[in-house]
Formats: sequence, C-alpha cells, structure tokens
Amino acid sequence: MSTPILEARGLTKRFGGLTANEDVNLVLGGPPGQVVAVIGPNGAGKSTLFKMLAGFLAPSSGQVLLHGQDITGMKPHRIARLGLVRTFQETTTFPDLTALEHVSLAHQLHREASDLEVVLGTKRARGDEQRLGTEARDILELMELSAAADTAARHLPQGLLRLLGIAMGLAARPQVLLLDEPYAGLNPEETNRAVAITRKVAASGVSVLLVEHDMKAVMAISDRIHVLYFGRKIAEGTPEEIRADPKVIEAYLGQEDEELGL
Ligand SMILES: Nc1ncnc2c1ncn2[C@@H]1O[C@H](COP(=O)(O)OP(=O)(O)OP(=O)(O)O)[C@@H](O)[C@H]1O
Ligand SMILES: [Mg+2]
Repeated sequence: MSTPILEARGLTKRFGGLTANEDVNLVLGGPPGQVVAVIGPNGAGKSTLFKMLAGFLAPSSGQVLLHGQDITGMKPHRIARLGLVRTFQETTTFPDLTALEHVSLAHQLHREASDLEVVLGTKRARGDEQRLGTEARDILELMELSAAADTAARHLPQGLLRLLGIAMGLAARPQVLLLDEPYAGLNPEETNRAVAITRKVAASGVSVLLVEHDMKAVMAISDRIHVLYFGRKIAEGTPEEIRADPKVIEAYLGQEDEELGL
C-alpha cells in the first residue's frame, strides 16, 4: 500500500481531567483530491483533532504523519510549508483590504525571494511579485471571487468572506486543507455554492478534510466520513454507510435539530 497523504495514529488529548480525543486513528489516503469529513455532536473533539493535526495543539499521546513524515509537535507554519494548512472556524480579515490583497498577503509567506531582495527589487523578487499576483488572481477565479477582487472585505457578505478564508488557505499551496465549519452561518443558497466550490478545489488536486455540522452538505460533498463521539471515533465509511450506521444514529438521537437529516 502506498504511503497515506495524512495519518493520525492513536491521537489522544487530555485537558486536565477531560479527554477531548481518545486514541483517534484517521487515514487520508490517495488519490489526492478527496473530501473527507469529520462529524460529531458539539464537544465531540473535532476542532481539537484538527488543531493537533495542524500543530496548534500538542497531543498528549499519538502521532501525526504527513506523507509518512512524523510532524507531531511541529509548529503550524512548518507544517503549512510541508503542505498541510488549516483555516479557522472564524474567518479573520482586514476590513480595509481587498479580496485580492488578502490572498496576496497570505502569499507573502510563500515568496521565494528574501526580504532584502524584495526591498532591492532584484529580478527574482520582481519575478516573484508577478507570479504571485497571477497566482492570487487564479485562486480568486477558482473560488469564484474574481468579481470581488478589488472590493474591501468590509463590503463583502458573509458567504464571500467564508470563501475568501479558503482562498487565503490556498495561497499557501497546500496538498491538504483542513476546513473547520466552512459553511457555518451561511444560508442554504450560499452553502450550496460553497459546497460546489469546495468540490472544485478538491478536483484541482487538494485533499480536503472538513468539520461540518450541516449534514446535507456533508453527505453531498464527502467521499468518506469519520464520526467522533465523546472524543472517540465510533464510525468511518461512505456517506451511505454512515447514514445507515446504528452507532451513528444513536449518537445523534436526542439532538435538538435532527442533525443527521434522517
Ligand atoms: N483549550 C481547552 N481547554 C480545556 N478544554 C477544552 C479546550 N479545548 C476544548 N476543550 C474541551 O474539549 C472538548 C472537545 O472540544 P472541541 O472544541 O474539540 O469540540 P468540537 O467537536 O469541535 O465541538 P463543536 O462542534 O462545538 O465545535 C469539549 O468538551 C471542550 O470543552
Ligand atoms: Mg469545533
């Protein structure tokens, strides 16, 4: 079997007496471009898992492997450079910067020329500027944000800000993108659009791991689904398998809004 793109082995996270993740195993295999969802009721440990995968939290025990390389305990920016990028549950934007400026800003971290060369305006730095400008526009186009390129963030509706958050993640040229509730706060129309765009991003070769409460969206978008319940993984499978899994149905019973959409 070929080396998985991303693998969590026995990840456990304790916060004092609370175990937020317990012995969680997850494999994101090939080919690149799959969409894998992590679902579970509030407090199940989904965000904690993502934070451990991307280096924002050190696991109490267990390992994270990216292309077979042990990245456990590495800092988030190093992990991002190795190809795994996490976007945030809340999108952080600068109200006065345009959509294009946001993506360019995210790109600055990935320029090849050193700061000094940029200041001196050397040929390589100018080449970088041009290439990154084109790339930023390409990313906006993929995210269907071209029309908003020159609009300041404070004028963008929530739906577009969410997409901009993903666009900024893409500026790091990830192989794996972790999205934590990318569709939260969106209306059904905005969600449908964002789901279709996420699919397009995946089709461009970026593997997507996402946490999402909108079950309709999860079922529509995912190749595979992992289910967390009180920090433990209780099920894994295709959307059809998950929908029919008695353990999953039981975990979701008693939820206020029939979250599974059964
Ligand atoms: N930094 C922390 N310190 C202490 N407890 C924490 C911390 N972060 C998370 N927890 C606890 O760990 C458990 C899992 O939290 P987590 O945020 O991972 O859940 P989640 O599945 O993402 O929930 P939601 O669907 O509400 O976003 C919760 O009981 C939470 O209160
Ligand atoms: Mg969460």
